[in-house]
Amino acid sequence: MTNTLARYDLTFFGIFISILYSCKKEELISEPEMEDTSLGTKFSVHIRPLLNTHCGECHSAGTSQTNYLDYDNAKNAITSILDRIQREEGASGFMPRNGNKLPQESIDLIQQWQDEGLIP
Ligand code: HEC
Repeated sequence: MTNTLARYDLTFFGIFISILYSCKKEELISEPEMEDTSLGTKFSVHIRPLLNTHCGECHSAGTSQTNYLDYDNAKNAITSILDRIQREEGASGFMPRNGNKLPQESIDLIQQWQDEGLIP
C-alpha cells in the first residue's frame, strides 16, 4: 500500500515536472514581457529577447550599430536606451529607428531591469 502510494506520488511528481518544463519552454518563445519576473528581471531571460525582437535588426553582432544583445553594452548604455525608447515616436533619436514605439509593458520591463540592478 505504502509502496503503491509512493509510486503514485512519483508519477504525479513526474507529470508536474513535465508540465512545469513545458510551461518554461513555452515562455521562452512567447513575448518576453509575459515572462515571470518574480525571481528578478534578468537580461538573459527578459531583456535580451525583447531587444532582439525590436532592436536586433540594427543593434546585434555584425551590424554597424552597438550590439545591445551583449550584456555589457546594454548595461553600459541603459540610460541612453531608456531615453531613446521613451521619446515621441518619430522624434529625433527615437528608437527603434523608423519603427513603432515599444509597448508600455516592454518599456516598464526595461525600467524595472534597471531598478533591480541590471541582473545578467
Ligand atoms: C532600423 C535600425 C535601428 C533599429 C531597429 C534600432 N536602432 Fe538604435 N540606432 C540606430 C542608428 C542608425 C543609430 C545611430 C544614430 C543615432 O544615434 O540616432 C542608433 C543609435 C542608438 C542609440 C544611441 C547610442 C548608440 O548606440 O549609438 C541607442 C541607445 C539605441 N540606438 C537604442 C536602440 C534600441 C533600444 C532599439 C530597440 C528598441 C533600437 N535602437 C533600434 C538604428 C536602429
